[in-house]
Amino acid sequence: MNSCKNLRVFSKSVACKCVALVGIALFYRALLLSYSPRNALSNNTSLIRPPHMSDSSSTGGIRTDKFLEVPQIVWGLNNQKIAFARACLTARMMNRTLLMPSLSASLFYKEVDKLRPIPFDKVFQFERFNSLCSGFVRLARFSDVRNRTQVFDLEKGSGRRWTIERDLEHLKQSASNKSIDEFEAIRLIGKNPFLWHDHWPVEDYAKVFECMVVVDEISREADKVVMKIREAGEKVARASPIPFVAVHMRIEIDWMIHCKKLEQRKKISEICSSKREIMERVGNISGLKTPTVLYLAVADTLLEEKEEDSSVLTGWRDGLIPFEKKKLGVKEEIYGKYSYLIQSAIDYEVCLRADVFVGNSFSTFSSLIVLERTQKARKLGFMSSCEDGENKWRSYAYNLAGESMRVPRRWMTNMTHSSLQAISYGSNSVSCSSG
Ligand SMILES: *[C@@H]1O[C@H](CO)[C@@H](O)[C@H](O)[C@H]1NC(C)=O
Ligand SMILES: *[C@@H]1O[C@H](CO)[C@@H](O)[C@H](O)[C@H]1NC(C)=O
Ligand SMILES: *[C@@H]1O[C@H](CO)[C@@H](O)[C@H](O)[C@H]1NC(C)=O
Ligand SMILES: *[C@@H]1O[C@H](CO)[C@@H](O)[C@H](O)[C@H]1NC(C)=O
Ligand SMILES: *[C@@H]1O[C@H](CO)[C@@H](O)[C@H](O)[C@H]1NC(C)=O
Ligand SMILES: *[C@@H]1O[C@H](CO)[C@@H](O)[C@H](O)[C@H]1NC(C)=O
Repeated sequence: MNSCKNLRVFSKSVACKCVALVGIALFYRALLLSYSPRNALSNNTSLIRPPHMSDSSSTGGIRTDKFLEVPQIVWGLNNQKIAFARACLTARMMNRTLLMPSLSASLFYKEVDKLRPIPFDKVFQFERFNSLCSGFVRLARFSDVRNRTQVFDLEKGSGRRWTIERDLEHLKQSASNKSIDEFEAIRLIGKNPFLWHDHWPVEDYAKVFECMVVVDEISREADKVVMKIREAGEKVARASPIPFVAVHMRIEIDWMIHCKKLEQRKKISEICSSKREIMERVGNISGLKTPTVLYLAVADTLLEEKEEDSSVLTGWRDGLIPFEKKKLGVKEEIYGKYSYLIQSAIDYEVCLRADVFVGNSFSTFSSLIVLERTQKARKLGFMSSCEDGENKWRSYAYNLAGESMRVPRRWMTNMTHSSLQAISYGSNSVSCSSG
């Protein structure tokens, strides 16, 4: 050992042996820690950034002269993000550049004329997307297609007999079919991409989501909301800085009906949380300093026209200072200026920026936020994010019990799942155990 030789110059060899022993002990301790089941998953850096992404200038890029066009992307923000990722990954499978799809600004899905298409680059940064996702997936504008007169229409199958295996086989066959591949552009015909089969691991979706950075305007609005939340909290608490916890509350009647049905169908009882249960579990989050300001992201789906339930503001334990959009004074001033999609995007960004996030593990909105927070935590080196404590980007599921019935379960995304279904809609998999 080099260090021993150096040490020997001015100390006795006994001392050196001690140093060496301590060193060995530390080494084994580190080994043991990194191979405990909790850390084995998190220490795998290849999960944070897939190998093919490590070098953005790698030659394994996507062809820039072959394109894929997909149907307009519809429904809520989370569904649209998932649908967009699915379109990207389909294009990747065919080694084609995805033609920038239209998103939908409104939530109406039955009346097609009310779908209000909005270009992807009005919500997410186009150039940034391509630079972050370089070598993995690629976006282009319709004007990049040289000859738009010849497009191959590829119909996606549907119905009960069109299984996931059949869909995958169809995609692979089409990708390797020379007479199809020679077309500069392929247009996929059929259902909106959210309804396509899910052929990709969580990591791949996560990679696409990571490249979806909202445009500056949305980011600035989210910053304003966060500033208002902190200022409002500090004014009440007469303390600064105070922590900010975002709670994605799903207690509106539509959700309650939906989740009760889901509980019956799936024969589990941990989907719906009453307001009382949410309040108790959020109040019992360990290590939460008080005063703390709570931002209640009251579910936005189909709620726009309803009177907001102001009773969500009362009943919290002492030291928690609750606010929702109206009480903060951002409902008209900030959110009110925008379409449904942009409002959701602002709310998503606000929840992302919170010191602690608490959501429902059965909500896709909550799940995508936790997925992104898990990635951020890992980048900062918080590998064992299931532990309580001071670590940044902590998240909880209020619908699941933690160490006791009265505390919420820590929540982080398991990036090794082989499909998105496992971590998003209709799932109570939060990877952290109940302790
Ligand atoms: C880490 O990820 C690589 C590539 O995905 C995989 O082959 C390997 O088994 C993983 N190791 C652990 C400890 O999970
Ligand atoms: C796409 O095709 C190009 C050119 O044929 C090739 O160099 C590249 O490796 C392919 N990329 C993927 C992801 O298949
Ligand atoms: C586009 O393709 C069509 C059909 O192959 C051809 O007739 C036309 O000349 C092409 N246009 C250009 C600008 O290359
Ligand atoms: C390739 O696609 C064309 C057009 O759909 C089809 O007619 C042809 O049979 C396919 N070829 C193979 C080998 O599958
Ligand atoms: C949770 O909070 C309730 C009151 O809201 C309290 O009675 C209970 O002891 C707390 N439980 C834990 C584990 O902190
Ligand atoms: C993560 O998901 C994989 C694949 O589904 C599973 O084998 C593993 O046990 C999960 N890890 C945790 C911590 O839940």
